[in-house]
Amino acid sequence: MMCSPVAVRYWVIFCLFIPMFSSSILTCPPCKCTLTKANCSNLDLMEVPQLPVTIRTLDLSNNRLGNLSSRTFRNVSSHIETLKLSHNFINDIDRDTFNDSVNLVNLDLSDNRFSSPTKVFRALAATKLQLLDLSNTSLHFSNFSTLKLLSSVPIRTLNLQDNSLKVLDGSLKNSCPNLQKLILTGNFIRKISFSDVQYKLKELYIDENVLTEVPSFCLKESYTTAALPALRTLSISANLMTSLRHLNHSKLCVQNIETLLMDNNHFFRISENAFTGFPKLRTLSLNMINTKRLIIHQTAFNSTSLQNLTLGTIQKIFTVSDNMFDYCGNLSSLTLAGVSFYKWPLQKMRKLFSSLLKLKHLTLFNSQISLIPTHFLPNVQNLVYLDARKNFLSSWQSVAFKNATALKTLILSYNHITHLNESFLPTFLWKQIEILDLAFNPFDCSCELYWFRKWLNKNSYKVKTYPKVYFCKSPSKYKDRMLSNYNPSYRECHPLPTLTIALISCACVLVFLAVLAVILYRNRWHIKYYIYLLRAKQGYKQIPGDDRFVYDAFVAYNSTDRIWVISKLKEFLEAQHNMKLCLHERDFSAGRLIIDNIIENIQLSRKVILILTDEFAKSQWCQFETLMAQNRFFEQGASSLVLVMLEDVSSRHLNGPLSLLLQSMTYIEWSKDPAGNEMFWGKLLESLQ
Ligand SMILES: *[C@@H]1O[C@H](CO)[C@@H](O)[C@H](O)[C@H]1NC(C)=O
Ligand SMILES: *[C@@H]1O[C@H](CO)[C@@H](O)[C@H](O)[C@H]1NC(C)=O
Ligand SMILES: *[C@@H]1O[C@H](CO)[C@@H](O)[C@H](O)[C@H]1NC(C)=O
Ligand SMILES: *[C@@H]1O[C@H](CO)[C@@H](O)[C@H](O)[C@H]1NC(C)=O
Ligand SMILES: *[C@@H]1O[C@H](CO)[C@@H](O)[C@H](O)[C@H]1NC(C)=O
Ligand SMILES: *[C@@H]1O[C@H](CO)[C@@H](O)[C@H](O)[C@H]1NC(C)=O
Ligand SMILES: *[C@@H]1O[C@H](CO)[C@@H](O)[C@H](O)[C@H]1NC(C)=O
Ligand SMILES: *[C@@H]1O[C@H](CO)[C@@H](O)[C@H](O)[C@H]1NC(C)=O
Ligand SMILES: *[C@@H]1O[C@H](CO)[C@@H](O)[C@H](O)[C@H]1NC(C)=O
Repeated sequence: MMCSPVAVRYWVIFCLFIPMFSSSILTCPPCKCTLTKANCSNLDLMEVPQLPVTIRTLDLSNNRLGNLSSRTFRNVSSHIETLKLSHNFINDIDRDTFNDSVNLVNLDLSDNRFSSPTKVFRALAATKLQLLDLSNTSLHFSNFSTLKLLSSVPIRTLNLQDNSLKVLDGSLKNSCPNLQKLILTGNFIRKISFSDVQYKLKELYIDENVLTEVPSFCLKESYTTAALPALRTLSISANLMTSLRHLNHSKLCVQNIETLLMDNNHFFRISENAFTGFPKLRTLSLNMINTKRLIIHQTAFNSTSLQNLTLGTIQKIFTVSDNMFDYCGNLSSLTLAGVSFYKWPLQKMRKLFSSLLKLKHLTLFNSQISLIPTHFLPNVQNLVYLDARKNFLSSWQSVAFKNATALKTLILSYNHITHLNESFLPTFLWKQIEILDLAFNPFDCSCELYWFRKWLNKNSYKVKTYPKVYFCKSPSKYKDRMLSNYNPSYRECHPLPTLTIALISCACVLVFLAVLAVILYRNRWHIKYYIYLLRAKQGYKQIPGDDRFVYDAFVAYNSTDRIWVISKLKEFLEAQHNMKLCLHERDFSAGRLIIDNIIENIQLSRKVILILTDEFAKSQWCQFETLMAQNRFFEQGASSLVLVMLEDVSSRHLNGPLSLLLQSMTYIEWSKDPAGNEMFWGKLLESLQ
C-alpha cells in the first residue's frame, strides 16, 4: 500500500512544493514579500496595496497612511498577526478600523501623533492584542483607568515610552489585567501609585522620568500590601532620585524583585542595609551615579541573594572603604566603574575582595589601578572574566594569574602597557585565553615586543579589535603607525653574540680551507700540468730536435696491463724492431717525483703510446699521462700519438681528454685472432715510423 503509484505521486508533489513555499519570494509590488511576511516600509504609501492572503506579518512603517479607518485595511486579509504602522502621520483611528483583524496580536503604532488616547483605546478595545507599542504618540493621561477600555484585550506588553505622562494613579488591575511588562520610559512621571493589586505584572521600566524618590509599590496608604506582588524586574535608571530612603517603607512590597536597575541617578548616600527589603535581589545596578560625593555604608550591600552588582560614577572618581563587600559573599559578578584604588596597598585590596569567594566576573573600569597585585582575589581560580580597562597598568608579574585557571576573557585596553612578553601571563593562559583586549595601549614597537608581536600573528582571532586600534607610540620610527606594521624578523631582535660570530667565522674559514684542499687534491694533476705548461712557456725549449729524443716511444699503461706490454709490445718493438721504449717500471729514475719522471720522459720520447683499457681510464696517473699526451697532440699533431685500444673502454670511464683524443684520431685495436693480430702489429709499426 505504502508504495502504490498514487502515494508516490503525492510524495513527489509534496517534496517539490515544500521548498518553493518556504523560501520563494512572492511578488507583491511595491512591497517585498516572502510567504508570510510583507515589507512595505519607506515607500511613501498613502494606501495599503493588494497583498497575498498568506501574509501574517506586515510592515507598513514610515509611510503616509494618515488617519486609519476600516477602509484602510480592505486589501489586507484578516489573517494578519503582526502589523507595524510606526511613523504614518496617523492622528486618529476610527472605532471600527480593526473589526476584521481578528488575528492581530502585535501592533506597533509608535511615532504617530494621536489627538486623543480614548479614541485610540476605543478602536483597540475589541482586538486580541498581546503586544501594543504606543511609544512617541503624544499620549497623555494621568489615571490608569483611561486604559480601562483595554480591559478585555489580553495585552501582555504595553509600551508607552516617550509620551507626555506625568502622574500615574489608579487601578492597573481593572485596566490591564493581563499586563506583564509595562514600559514607561521617557515620560515626565513624578509619581506613580496603585490603588489595587495587579497580580501579573513582572517587569516595569520607568527610566528617564523625573522621579525624585523610589516609588512605592505598596497599595495606597498601606505599607504592608504589595500592589505588584509578581514584580521581578524594576528599572528606574536616569531619574532624579537622591535617596533610597523610600525603599525602607516599601520593604514588604518588593519581596519578589530580582533585578533592580537604578543607574544614572543622584544618590549621595547608600545607607545601611539599603537592600535588605529585597530578599530575592540578584542583580543590582547603581552605575553612573551622578554626584560629587557618595557615602556607602559598610552594610549597604548586605544581601545573601545578590549575585551581580554594578557600582559606578560618571562625575568624579570616588573612594570606597575596604569593607564594602563584607556582607554580599554570594556575588559572582562585580563591576566597579570610577571607583578609585589609587595608592591602595595590597593588603587593603585583598581585604576588599576577601569575602567574594564566588567571584567569576570582575570589572574594575577607570579605577586608577597601576598594579595587578598577587593574591588580590581569594579564589582567583573561579575568575572567568577580568576587565581592567582604562587604568594605569603597565606591567605585572605572571604570578598574579598563576592560579587563574578558568580565565577566558582579559580586557586591558586603555592602559599604559608599552611592552609585553611571554612572562606576563602563565603559559597555560596564553593558550587558554579566548578574548584578549589590549586596544589603545601605547605600545613601544621595539624588540621587547617581539614575542607578543609573533604571538599576535598566530592568535589574532583571540584579539577582537586587532589590528584596527593597536598603535605604536614609540620609537619615533613607528610612532602612530599600526602595531601590525611592526613585524621584525627573528634576526633583527636576536643579534648573535660576538663569541658565536667569531666561532662561526672560524668554522667558515675551516670549511673553506677543507673544501679548497679537497678540490686541489682532486685536481692535482691538472694543476701540476698547468704549472708545467706555464713553466714551459717561459723560455723552455718547445720541440726538441730529433737527435734529442732518447726513446722512440713513451708507453703509458696501467700496471694491470704490464704482462701484455712486457711480453707482447716490448718483445715486438724492442726485440724484433730495435726500438727503444720508455716503460715506467724500467726507465723512471728512482728518487724523483713520478710526475717529473712522466713530464721529462715524454719530452724525451718521439711518440707516446697510450695503452687503453678500463683500468687505464680509471687510473689517476694514466689520466695525467693522457693529459700530457693531449698537450702533445695540440703541439705536434696526431702523428705524435699512438692510441692502442687493448680492450673496449666503457664510456663510464671516459674522461674529458681521453674522449677528445678518441674522437679526433684513429686508434689501433688489439685483436686476438691471428689475422687481426698481424694487422695490428703492422699498423702499430706504421704509426711509429
Ligand atoms: C487595494 O490595492 C489596489 C492595488 O494595490 C489599489 O488600487 C486599491 O486602491 C487598494 N484599495 C484600498 C482600499 O486601499
Ligand atoms: C485626521 O484626524 C484628525 C483628528 O481627528 C483630524 O483633525 C484630521 O483632519 C484628520 N486628517 C484627515 C486627512 O482626515
Ligand atoms: C516621534 O515621532 C515623530 C513623528 O510623530 C518623529 O518625527 C520623531 O522623530 C519621533 N521621536 C522619536 C524620539 O522617535
Ligand atoms: C481615576 O479614574 C477613576 C474612574 O474614572 C476614578 O474613580 C478615580 O478616582 C480616578 N483616580 C484618580 C486618582 O483620579
Ligand atoms: C531603614 O531601616 C533600617 C532598618 O532596617 C533602620 O535602621 C533605618 O533607620 C531606616 N531608615 C529610615 C530612613 O527609615
Ligand atoms: C544583614 O541583613 C540581615 C537581614 O537580611 C540582618 O539580619 C543582619 O543583621 C544584617 N547584617 C548587618 C551587619 O547589619
Ligand atoms: C549564599 O546563598 C545561600 C543561599 O542561596 C545562603 O545560604 C548563603 O548564606 C549565602 N552566602 C553568603 C556568604 O551570603
Ligand atoms: C595558588 O594556589 C595555591 C594553592 O591553592 C596557593 O598556595 C598559592 O599561594 C596560590 N598562588 C597565588 C599566586 O595565588
Ligand atoms: C619580560 O619583561 C619583563 C619586564 O620588562 C622583563 O623583566 C623580563 O626579563 C622579560 N622576559 C623576557 C623573557 O624577555
